[in-house]
Amino acid sequence: MIVKVNNLVKRYKELIALDHFNMEVEEGEILGLLGPNGCGKTTAINCILSLLNFDKGEIEVLGKKMTPDSYDIKKQIGLVPQEVSVFEKLTVKENIDYFCGLYIEDKNLREQYVEEAIEFVGLKKYEKFYPKKLSGGLKRRLNIACGIAHKPRLIFLDEPTVAVDAQSRNFILDGIKKLNKEGSTIIYTTHYLEEIEMLCKRIIIMDNGKSLVSGTKEELKAMITTSEKIIVGFLNIEDETINKMKNIPHVIDVEKDDEYYIIKFENGINNLANLLEFIKENNLTYTKLHSQLPSLNDVFLELTGKELRD
Ligand SMILES: Nc1ncnc2c1ncn2[C@@H]1O[C@H](COP(=O)(O)OP(=O)(O)OP(=O)(O)O)[C@@H](O)[C@H]1O
Ligand SMILES: [Mg+2]
Repeated sequence: MIVKVNNLVKRYKELIALDHFNMEVEEGEILGLLGPNGCGKTTAINCILSLLNFDKGEIEVLGKKMTPDSYDIKKQIGLVPQEVSVFEKLTVKENIDYFCGLYIEDKNLREQYVEEAIEFVGLKKYEKFYPKKLSGGLKRRLNIACGIAHKPRLIFLDEPTVAVDAQSRNFILDGIKKLNKEGSTIIYTTHYLEEIEMLCKRIIIMDNGKSLVSGTKEELKAMITTSEKIIVGFLNIEDETINKMKNIPHVIDVEKDDEYYIIKFENGINNLANLLEFIKENNLTYTKLHSQLPSLNDVFLELTGKELRD
């Protein structure tokens, strides 16, 4: 395990931001830390990096207890913080050089690393720019370059794609995959489900300062009762028929969402066939019909009773 967090408790006065939070990260993986605003993702990262003190629990990073002056551990870690934090008085290149210089003393090596980081985030054209002249997406890329230029073994990225245009977002996501392929372990926090689906091998779902579950996407989806949703638009359907629909084998619930009905099924292989049979028997007409496998949002919804998105 490259990171081990055991029963971490962090209070801000009366507010319990982390409530016996647990996390384990294996070397080489991209771990997604998924949870709604305010659930404690950033607080967890800051505690793990000893940037914040905490009330209870144990944290091990790279096999050692982490402390504020664990310099040997810290130089193997990269942090891309949620809030862009670069120096306005330094150019793109000078910023990257500054952050890289915190860990890489050798001047020639540092020069090479800074060049590589600039290439990596695609900022060559902008290397002499000051941050205030960069768009939001480019500034995010600079933030990333500053966090990874020293080629860390373990990288924390805290919502690196917030308020970023599609082009920069894809650039960033591809870059993260590349860093991982080159050997870095990645911890990625977000509340964007698509990014987690795309990037992460394993996911921890957080809520209210706790880690609710962890596993691969498939494992998480298998934990919940709903295994399939069929979405149908009906013309003129009676309430009575809707109620009858609940007797179709394996149906657990029928919900109405604006114009469509969402029919939720638990395990069962002939769901679609059974529903079509029901439609025929009852002479129903439908406008649209498709089947969906559960999403991570469904997992979150079933575990917490609320939507992941605000
Ligand atoms: N410095 C602070 N003082 C007091 N409360 C804080 C402080 N920082 C965070 N909190 C509170 O702690 C809880 C966890 O916040 P945190 O920033 O870790 O959440 P998050 O999961 O990173 O949220 P987001 O998705 O919005 O970034 C929230 O209720 C937040 O309001
Ligand atoms: Mg945060």
